[in-house]
Amino acid sequence: MDFDLTEEHLAVMEAARDFAKTHLLPGVVERDINATFPKELTAMMGEMGFMGMMTRPEYGGGGMDTISYVLAMEEISKIDASAGVIMSVNNSLVCWGIEKYASEQQKKKYLIPLASGKLLGAFALSEPEAGSDATSQKTTAVDMGDHYLLNGTKNWITNGKSSAICLVLAQTDPSKGHRGMSVFIVEKGWAGFEVGIKEDKMGIRASDTHSLMFTNVKVPKENRIGEEGIGFRYAMETLDGGRIGIAAQALGIAAGAYERALDYSKERKTFGKPICEHQAIQFKLADMATEIEAARLLCYEAAFAKDRGRDYSKWSAMAKLYSSKVAMEVTSEAIQIHGGYGYVREYQVERMMRDAKITQIYEGTSEIQKIVISRNILR
Ligand code: CAA
Repeated sequence: MDFDLTEEHLAVMEAARDFAKTHLLPGVVERDINATFPKELTAMMGEMGFMGMMTRPEYGGGGMDTISYVLAMEEISKIDASAGVIMSVNNSLVCWGIEKYASEQQKKKYLIPLASGKLLGAFALSEPEAGSDATSQKTTAVDMGDHYLLNGTKNWITNGKSSAICLVLAQTDPSKGHRGMSVFIVEKGWAGFEVGIKEDKMGIRASDTHSLMFTNVKVPKENRIGEEGIGFRYAMETLDGGRIGIAAQALGIAAGAYERALDYSKERKTFGKPICEHQAIQFKLADMATEIEAARLLCYEAAFAKDRGRDYSKWSAMAKLYSSKVAMEVTSEAIQIHGGYGYVREYQVERMMRDAKITQIYEGTSEIQKIVISRNILR
């Protein structure tokens, strides 16, 4: 067993860290307050190669492994978790599935601009009545010969407004339940495709979350990915990888809050000495550091299993379950260490706690992760 990162891994980590400190840090507080989507910064992340990290170079990506992706996600999310989720969705929920399942023609048309960061993608699975119970899809795509007619509403879609391309899961044969679902590449601007108002969220406020409405949208036949009926499996496999990205986002939020708390504890004095010299604070820092390392190892293990071509469903669920719990605990303790200062925006740890909460909800709640883990253990 080798716990050392390679030179390439360290270079990716360094590049992401530099980018986050130089470009994402200035303005992160204002973007959170005003819920401003970081359009130019997202374009820069594309130029840096962060939007299609694992996609093969012939399709515009970086051809990197999943460990590199986890490292970059952690560094970006340490500073700005909104940028983290924008990046995660494009990498693992959009580019990954297209590369695995789409035709050569679809890859040339859509994957190259998506993976190179020229276009942004979104993944539309959730519906008003299909969140955790993802098989209850109501959106339909009716075969009209040379095209499908798409009708339905999708909810909570990350990159909902800013994306140019959206992958949409729909029922093509409702009589077959989850085996009658298919996935389509749908372009913004097509008649009948509308974007709802932006959700006013507790955290990750700079990412744009919208509902999407489809009313008789004509989707050309050539925009269906793979065969009819593979849609649900496509979505589940995609989420297995997506959960590694969100686990790494949660890890980054925890590590960012911990680093801020550690620095603060060395500066802030009470009872005549820096607070890091009080055992009450030392024990908190020790717990935080230990939990973060454990979460990091689970993230690496999930990424390692995926890179080795092993079944990683259980590992990605474990990594997300644990890292998101650690993110909540560590951000809460980081506020506690900051005292009253932790409760105000300027010190950033309050934002990190708000950002952390969603990592226990999206891409499968913690309860869903426990279903996935237990089914894997018991099968
Ligand atoms: N890989 C491949 N196929 C899988 C799979 C996997 N990991 N998990 C399940 N399947 C297949 C099963 O084999 C089964 O297929 P067959 O019947 O053909 O054999 C089919 O899917 C249905 O499986 P289940 O019977 O296990 O289905 P279920 O109704 O019990 O639900 C679930 C399974 C794991 C709970 C699933 O519904 C689930 O993951 N729910 C959560 C949905 C979710 O994560 N939503 C997130 C939305 S995206 C998002 O949040 C993005 C964002 O904005 C950041």
